[in-house]
Amino acid sequence: MIICLCNSISDKAINVAVNNGANTPSLVYKSCGAKPQCGSCTEYIKHEIYQVQTAEK
Ligand code: FES
Repeated sequence: MIICLCNSISDKAINVAVNNGANTPSLVYKSCGAKPQCGSCTEYIKHEIYQVQTAEK
């Protein structure tokens, strides 16, 4: 599923980026080779970061 329509970033790509250590939305965009545009996907990305961080504990 595509989460970031502006950059065509999928939920899987976001998950991989977060698991590789991207712990802010801007690092996730960076690791996907993209830049934040409209910003409507940042809530999803923040949620994903939160999920991964809480799963690690
Ligand atoms: S949907 Fe990701 S920046 Fe617009």
